[in-house]
Amino acid sequence: MEEMHPHLKEVLFTEDAIRERVAEMGAQITADYADKEIVLISVLRGAAIFMSDLAREIKRPIEMDYMAVSSYGDGAKSSGVVRILKDLSGDIEGKHVLIAEDILDSGLTLRYLQKYLSSRNPASIEVATLLRKKTRAQADIKCRYVGFECPDQFIVGYGLDYAERYRNLPYIGILKDGIIQD
Ligand code: IMP
Ligand code: MG
Repeated sequence: MEEMHPHLKEVLFTEDAIRERVAEMGAQITADYADKEIVLISVLRGAAIFMSDLAREIKRPIEMDYMAVSSYGDGAKSSGVVRILKDLSGDIEGKHVLIAEDILDSGLTLRYLQKYLSSRNPASIEVATLLRKKTRAQADIKCRYVGFECPDQFIVGYGLDYAERYRNLPYIGILKDGIIQD
């Protein structure tokens, strides 16, 4: 096993555990959408790595599209403000939309996105999130697919960043105290 990054205090999900879970999620999605075409939409930048792995585990015809939103700036705290930095390239009217998210924290980003995408009249809209944080203040969001529950701490790796770093770690872990600067 590869050495843990020195800025981490703990690895939560190893590369193997993530691969296994993403494969299970893909198999479930393949079964659930047996006769349907999916538009997989990922929220840049964090979810791009998850979506590219998930897409290869879905044995159905899919389209892939991307949005970029910002709710955090470079810091670790939610600002509660969601800005669209990049909109979809394609049309989703009448299509089965599956949003791939990296992590559900306050839920503000997803709540906003679901509303926004619903207004474009897709046939259905569901959420696949790799991680769901156990927080008390989370918005009530229906996620059809959840990879892992995780503790209410700041985590990085496999797409998740702190100030744009650590996204390329193949595993997910908790940042050490003292690395985050408020
Ligand atoms: P929410 O709107 O609070 O649910 O935040 C969603 C977004 O915040 C995610 O898509 C991530 O980009 C980011 N985020 C939330 N928690 C973490 C974390 O622990 N590490 C890294 N990014 C996070
Ligand atoms: Mg994100």
